[in-house]
Amino acid sequence: LNSTINVLTAHQSIRKFKPDPITTDQLHAIIEAAQAASTSSFIQAYSIIHVSDPELRRKLAHLAGDQVYIEECPVFLVFCADLYRLKVATEIHGLEMKGEYMEAFIIATVDTALAAQNAIVAAESMGLGGVYIGGIRNNPEEISRLLELPEKVYPVFGMCLGKPNHAPGKKPRLPLAAVLKENRYTTEEDVLLLQQYDETIHNYYKDRTGGQRLESWTGQMAHRMSKEIRLHMRSFLEKQGFGFK
Ligand SMILES: Cc1cc2nc3c(=O)[nH]c(=O)nc-3n(C[C@H](O)[C@H](O)[C@H](O)COP(=O)(O)O)c2cc1C
Repeated sequence: LNSTINVLTAHQSIRKFKPDPITTDQLHAIIEAAQAASTSSFIQAYSIIHVSDPELRRKLAHLAGDQVYIEECPVFLVFCADLYRLKVATEIHGLEMKGEYMEAFIIATVDTALAAQNAIVAAESMGLGGVYIGGIRNNPEEISRLLELPEKVYPVFGMCLGKPNHAPGKKPRLPLAAVLKENRYTTEEDVLLLQQYDETIHNYYKDRTGGQRLESWTGQMAHRMSKEIRLHMRSFLEKQGFGFK
């Protein structure tokens, strides 16, 4: 193994931060690492908003479900899928952009996620930590208004970054055999593998909370997946100039 794999496999979401600032050089290195990610057809369909205004942070923290670490973290970024710049590029050449279809939406969202993951890994490689904030999509319309997002741009998620002030511990992932399949999608072992994983996660929470939290992974997922969330997203995206044909 090597230091890159060590950084990747040491990941844990950080939600408590020391007050130490992230320097401009560090921030720029993180963003340059984000920009180095692969990008579909070279379109680089994202913009990253660094939210440094404390009052704006306070509003975003509230709109994202009162997640206080959005206010407390040294750096807060909002990763936006961005087809607006591509519209500008297309118009420079006198053409009309055709961006209102599902594949364009997928490409922009995937590009944004790839850049973001590079950013968090770069931060972690510097001894910093962070957490993604999908809570941004709780109130995407209001947040887009506050950030003055133009048409064809939407906030995919936020990201808190800073020096960790806690070590929550690595959350064990699914057994490799559950996610890595050979040549075809096999299902025979699913239940057994999930039962094994439930035990791992049960012990993980038990140890982490002194026996207070007794949860399985399938139990958590059953609760999560038996409801629909953020059903406002489709109409919000359509208003924002994305399309799904
Ligand atoms: C797209 C995305 C959105 C997330 N949104 C939130 C969030 O709003 N608040 C939060 O505390 N954690 C959020 N997380 C962090 C996950 O809960 C976390 O990654 C997961 O529980 C696994 O834990 P780990 O990152 O410590 O390994 C998000 C993660 C991703 C990838």
